[in-house]
Amino acid sequence: MEVIICPDEDAVGRAAAARVAHVIASLNRPPVLGVATGSSPLAAYAALAALVRAGRLDLTGASAFALDEYVGLPEGHPESYAEVIRKTVTEPLGLDPRRVHVPDGNAADPPAAAEAYEAAIEQAGGIDVQLLGVGANGHIGFNEPTSSLSSRTRVKTLSARTRADNARFFDSPEQVPHHCLTQGLGTILASRHAVLVAQGAAKARAVAALVEGPLSAMCPGSVLQLHRSATVIVDEVAAAELALADYYREIQRNLPAWQRTEI
Ligand code: F6R
Repeated sequence: MEVIICPDEDAVGRAAAARVAHVIASLNRPPVLGVATGSSPLAAYAALAALVRAGRLDLTGASAFALDEYVGLPEGHPESYAEVIRKTVTEPLGLDPRRVHVPDGNAADPPAAAEAYEAAIEQAGGIDVQLLGVGANGHIGFNEPTSSLSSRTRVKTLSARTRADNARFFDSPEQVPHHCLTQGLGTILASRHAVLVAQGAAKARAVAALVEGPLSAMCPGSVLQLHRSATVIVDEVAAAELALADYYREIQRNLPAWQRTEI
């Protein structure tokens, strides 16, 4: 796992965009992106949108798969992840909405919708690069603590901590749905590259647990220790509890030219 410590949120966003753009440039076909919602990836989306506008990143024909969706929010609800992805990813990056997929949180048969989502990812050829945030409790996607490390897209019950954390997006805490459809940890592990971003002191414990703690379903993000190509990009405060922070800085200072992805 590669750990990059950046001075601030904007630098985290630029570093994540650079990593994503680097993966895309290495493909000789349109990319399949995995996209997260929430506050963490917003700076990365802004940096990616700037690259597209500057003509330095070509997303023609790209497809995207969201990590998760609330169950039961009415279609068009501003906090449904379908809407959030449209506003923060599809439109700014100029993606074709027909190629942007979000799990169907209103499906009459949610397990069937989950299975169909997995099939759609497979049919697209798998996810080339998956952007991730992390919850304060270590979740990635909405895989809450004790999620199976090999799980696939399915319905999960949100923890009280996650519902409280996400209440800021709703008019009142009771409006946060109890259930979601989320890509599983096994689905995330199957992506070819994973880029996790985290900013702020509230994430410091989760970041240390996922990078340096034991591989454990109690910190679902720690499954990235098994990922073939995982990059964790954090700001200084989110890095505060990393025991080997100096080592990660040393690695970045001495990165061989062929491994650099700055923009
Ligand atoms: C969102 C998602 C979640 C968030 C996490 C952090 O699609 O899958 O894992 O990435 O809850 O949320 P923020 O970034 O709002 O702190």
